[in-house]
Amino acid sequence: MWKDLQDHQKATQGRRIESMLTPDRAADFSVQLGDMLFDYSKTNIDAKARDMLIGLLDATGVAAKREAMFSGQKINETEGRAVLHTALRNLDGAPVIVEGVNVIPDVRATLDRMAAFADQVRQGRFRGQGGPITDVVNIGIGGSDLGPAMAVRALAPYHDGPRTHFVSNVDPADIAQVLRGCDPATTLVIVASKTFTTIETMTNARTAKAWMGQAVADPAVQFAALSTDLDKTGAFGIDPARVFGFEDWVGGRYSMWGPIGLSLMIAIGPDAFRAFLRGAQSMDDHFRAADWHENMPALLALVGIWHNQVCGYATRAVLPYDQRLGRLPAYLQQLEMESNGKRVSMDGADLTCESGPVVWGEPGTNGQHAFYQLIHQGTRIVPCEFMVAARGHEEDLHHQHQLLIANCLAQSEALMKGRSLDEARAIMARKGLTGAELDRQARHRVFPGNRPSTTLLYPQLTPEILGQIVALYEHRVFVEGAILGINSYDQWGVELGKELATALQPVIEGKTDAAGKDGSTAGLVDFLRRNGA
Ligand code: F6P
Repeated sequence: MWKDLQDHQKATQGRRIESMLTPDRAADFSVQLGDMLFDYSKTNIDAKARDMLIGLLDATGVAAKREAMFSGQKINETEGRAVLHTALRNLDGAPVIVEGVNVIPDVRATLDRMAAFADQVRQGRFRGQGGPITDVVNIGIGGSDLGPAMAVRALAPYHDGPRTHFVSNVDPADIAQVLRGCDPATTLVIVASKTFTTIETMTNARTAKAWMGQAVADPAVQFAALSTDLDKTGAFGIDPARVFGFEDWVGGRYSMWGPIGLSLMIAIGPDAFRAFLRGAQSMDDHFRAADWHENMPALLALVGIWHNQVCGYATRAVLPYDQRLGRLPAYLQQLEMESNGKRVSMDGADLTCESGPVVWGEPGTNGQHAFYQLIHQGTRIVPCEFMVAARGHEEDLHHQHQLLIANCLAQSEALMKGRSLDEARAIMARKGLTGAELDRQARHRVFPGNRPSTTLLYPQLTPEILGQIVALYEHRVFVEGAILGINSYDQWGVELGKELATALQPVIEGKTDAAGKDGSTAGLVDFLRRNGA
């Protein structure tokens, strides 16, 4: 199966993508869902490769695994948990059974409680001790930060609530900077932590409480909590009326559809938040029902598998031509790398192929003036995932949006076509160069081209479209993980660093010495201690 794919890749790798662009390829190698189009015609995947990749889906039982996920089976085997973020956006109310219990009524009740609270805050009925809430500060990290932070920024045109801020880093610079701009008497602090034990979040939450305590009689009444651990939120002093709980079958990086999305809901309102959920649900329905040849998340995953595991391209760039999606690459980094950055398969055996790729990116056009040089002319091939809306929200500046689109499409065209030595020589000759200097200069201006990319197009970045985009990527991660046979829903790789940081803290504080530490770490501690740590 893999061998056939690799043989086919080797046999076709010299072929120019451009030469494959027959009149019907764009339609054949793209898929539409509602108003969203995913085009993968600018890759070296041909019909045979696609059939073989789809064969991988069948050979690895992805359809059965998909049903196992949607129906609440415990597919997160190393933590003994179901994986049911899709239930959080199941607005039709179709039952989802976990351990004999339909979880949907609770999901709905929590969503309704969130909406009621969000409305109270937005309408000034929930007040701070100095008046209506002017600022909301979400304190969380990883999945308890990146999703809502990304979405709040993405949906800025829909904001009509209080100002929203995010604090994630234990670096005091983060919280100090945010709190400096807020009035403690009119600020709502949301402590977002699935476990309510994460050291960064709990440290920042205590700092925020102390900050507020200097200005108001009872800081706890301006706190809300989002967590699976209601005992711990109680111990922190947060009234259960402002605690929004969820179950362990919601993974941190998949959690913004429920309580972890409260800051987003307060910012854009419950109706727009429901539209966001509806968009994701439409992608769920499509993913569950569509034939593999027409299945957007499955095809996006297969393109990923082709580029990473088959072609050996170690990274992929996510390049939204959408300034408001500026945090999407960071969000996808966690989603993809924490999910599929694993070295063993579900049964504990070493993987026999590469795990998930390095995911990175920045919005265009900014990236064009920074790292695109390497993408066009570097020795490594970086598959690029472009995305752009047909319309922005700034209707009076539509001409600028058109320029943005032109740049997005031009980049994928340039990556594919490149520029030959002859073309570069002709350009240099027109500039008056001759002989060896012409040759030398021309060689610097060659673009090898034949560099693959995909393009995702959508009408406008609305709550519904954002929901579709995020769910598309979630299911892509699921499919890639299912093909590789790994558990995409645990994250043991983050544990060791946490343990060592806890052990090092007293050393940094000077309470214990660095005895027993390796020579390198001891040397670094010594330098820092001598310089004020
Ligand atoms: O350390 C990794 C991690 O567990 C992520 O998976 C998670 O999103 C993040 O920390 C925050 O966890 P919590 O929501 O429990 O504070």
